[in-house]
Amino acid sequence: MLSKFERYPLTFGPTHIEKLERLSDHLGGKVELYAKREDCNSGLAFGGNKLRKLEYIIPDAIASNADTLVSIGGVQSNHTRMIAAVAAKIGFKCRLVQESWVPHEDAVYDRVGNIMLSRIMGADVQMVDEGFDIGIRRSWEEAIEDVKAKGGKPYAIPAGASVHKYGGLGYVGFAEEVREQEKDLGFAFDYIVVCTVTGSTHAGMLVGFAKDGRERKVIGIDASFTPAQTRAQVLEIARNTARLVELGRDIVEDDVVLVEDYAYPVYGVPSEETKEAIRLSARLEGMITDPVYEGKSMQGMIDLVRKGYFPEGSKVLYAHLGGAPALNGYGYAFRNG
Ligand SMILES: Cc1ncc(COP(=O)(O)O)c(C=O)c1O
Repeated sequence: MLSKFERYPLTFGPTHIEKLERLSDHLGGKVELYAKREDCNSGLAFGGNKLRKLEYIIPDAIASNADTLVSIGGVQSNHTRMIAAVAAKIGFKCRLVQESWVPHEDAVYDRVGNIMLSRIMGADVQMVDEGFDIGIRRSWEEAIEDVKAKGGKPYAIPAGASVHKYGGLGYVGFAEEVREQEKDLGFAFDYIVVCTVTGSTHAGMLVGFAKDGRERKVIGIDASFTPAQTRAQVLEIARNTARLVELGRDIVEDDVVLVEDYAYPVYGVPSEETKEAIRLSARLEGMITDPVYEGKSMQGMIDLVRKGYFPEGSKVLYAHLGGAPALNGYGYAFRNG
């Protein structure tokens, strides 16, 4: 589906799929849980889902003769860390807008984890006191203008690399990769669980899995706490991506399966249940998830297994999208483990 698009390699190659044996057993053993380790996909600054997306965006950035990647996220954004890493790798400058998307408890929240790594990698980090919003932001548009005013050539990448013409392609590739891996495994997954916020990870998967009729088996777990906006954004990106890859059919509203029950109390703040899910997967599998994204999708998957959402015998693939560096900003929440 992707052969006509240029790809700039930023990842090691196909990501590992492992069985979560002890977690599956702990939850009753009726559903087999697996994880696809997108969190271990690259040597670039701890990796994660953004690199798959950026592999299809960077060729356009290079072709545009830009010299500066400009992007935006929250203070502990994984995405902006990945932009800083990619800019370093390709020899671009990097301008990052970090908005105050998350109410936080830790005094060092803006000094550790993702933002520290971005600073170490040489990004020009600008703090902006604006609340959470996955849409196009004025602060980001101003940063693009500012780079131009100072003689730079900006290449604009929106939050999560999502609302970009090529933002959905990377996760179409994920679905193709899973199909190849299924040949070796000797079975196909019945469900794919994915954390959804800015939408292009879910949207790309949906289009990729639509090729074999599994689009509604992609279960998005909302972590934005603004699910109507996230759902609409997934649909829009999926439609554009389906056209780009010539899927041959349209994507409709009902193809977007988004479970809204686990994003509380708000974006970026873990509930007690999210913290429990993080501890459980860490203690049974040694697999680290974060309080903003993957902890919430882990919580969702665990709860859906307990509720019997997945029929007995189902094989469920949890897409682990990365994000662990943000844990450094949540020392208070985990002060007792
Ligand atoms: C670790 C992690 N998981 C999940 C997501 C959600 O992906 P998307 O923004 O493509 O919906 C993100 C980024 O927003 C992320 O950094």
